[in-house]
Parts: sequence; C-alpha cells; structure tokens
Amino acid sequence: MALGQMIKTWFQGLRFKSRNQQLPHPSVQSNGLNFRFAASDDIRSLLDIERDVFEALPWTFSYFQHEISGNSRAVFIVSENSEKILGYIGLRWNRSLTDFHISNFAVRKAFQNKGIGSQLLKAAEDLSSYLKITHLTLEVSRPDLTAQGFYRKRGFESARILTAYYNDGRDAIEMEKELKLEL
Ligand SMILES: CC(C)(COP(=O)(O)OP(=O)(O)OC[C@H]1O[C@@H](n2cnc3c(N)ncnc32)[C@H](O)[C@@H]1OP(=O)(O)O)[C@@H](O)C(=O)NCCC(=O)NCCS
Repeated sequence: MALGQMIKTWFQGLRFKSRNQQLPHPSVQSNGLNFRFAASDDIRSLLDIERDVFEALPWTFSYFQHEISGNSRAVFIVSENSEKILGYIGLRWNRSLTDFHISNFAVRKAFQNKGIGSQLLKAAEDLSSYLKITHLTLEVSRPDLTAQGFYRKRGFESARILTAYYNDGRDAIEMEKELKLEL
C-alpha cells in the first residue's frame, strides 16, 4: 500500500495534534477500500464496532478520544467502504520510537474473513518500516486462540503470559514481531 503521502501529511498533523487540533485526513485506496487516520468525529463508529466485536470490556468514548485526539504518541488507522468504517487498528509508540504497540484492533463481524484485518496490519507494518520501528507488540486474551492464530500466521511470537491482566481476571499473552528493516 502506498502510504508515503499519507504518512507525510500525518507527520505534519502531529504538530497540530499536540495543539489539540484535528489531524488532517489524507487517505489511500487499496482493494476497493479507503484507509486513513481516524479523527475524533469517527469515535461513534469505532464504538459501534467495539460493541459489535468485543463481548467483554469494550473501550469507552473517552479512551478512544484520548488515543485519537489527546495522546501525541498514538494513532488509529481506519478502513472504510463508501458507506461506513469497517475496521481499525490503534498504534502507540514508545519514546525512543523503536516499538509500536497495537492498542486495539477490530473488524466488524459481518466483514471479517475478507482480508480487511490483514490489510490493516500491513498498513501498521508499512508505517513502522517508514518510521524505522523494529518491533510490534500486543496483548491478546489467553483463551482467544483464533486471534492468537491470526497473529502467529503473520509472524508474531508469544513473549510472556500476563496473569489476570484483564479486569475480569482473564490472562493475556503478550506477543511480538520483529520487523526487518529494509536497508
Ligand atoms: C482479528 C481480526 C481483527 C482479523 O480481522 P479480519 O478482517 O477477519 O482478518 P482477515 O480477513 O485478514 O483474516 C482472517 C482470515 O480470513 C482469511 N481471508 C483473508 N482474505 C480472505 C478473503 N478474501 N476471503 C476469505 N477469507 C479470507 C484469512 O486467510 C484469514 O485466515 P488465516 O488467519 O487463517 O490466514 C478480526 O477477526 C476481529 O475483529 N476479531 C475480533 C476482535 C479481536 O480479536 N481483535 C484482536 C484482539 S488482540
């Protein structure tokens, strides 16, 4: 996916974000879908997906708002068709810009298994390689073997178990993927 222009505009946008203004909305087309960075007026749609997909502990409005409008080290990429947002991936990076943490990742149930999640993950990896970030990390619920399988197939490995990580007592597995920097 050609993210070059989108990423450049996004960098310019970061300066606005730190002044609590909106990020610009550059976008790219891929396989009939539009990919762009989320803005605060997308949060209602993201909440809609969140409720559709996560049975336990969906993110709240203020959590999305913090990551999209407040936290200058976080960003969300959304995928949409001509009607609505179909999925999103949230990324947060560390101070030294070596790691991206996948904070949230979901595709509407009715649109799963059509390749949208793979494309969102690829967009996150393209963004990582543009920024020369070498590690992607995430937490996944320990009983959720489907999501773990999805990540394993795409190069992630289990790093450690986080006991009682979620408020409801479930353990999480921390997974990570080392990205090869193209020289
Ligand atoms: C995990 C998740 C984001 C993946 O999104 P997705 O859009 O379903 O992902 P994809 O369609 O790219 O891949 C899913 C499967 O569909 C298959 N697939 C991909 N393109 C396809 C196509 N055009 N037609 C049919 N199947 C296809 C893939 O092969 C893949 O199977 P594999 O993992 O065995 O390779 C999504 O399932 C989801 O929202 N799950 C619930 C929330 C969740 O678990 N989030 C992660 C928490 S850590």
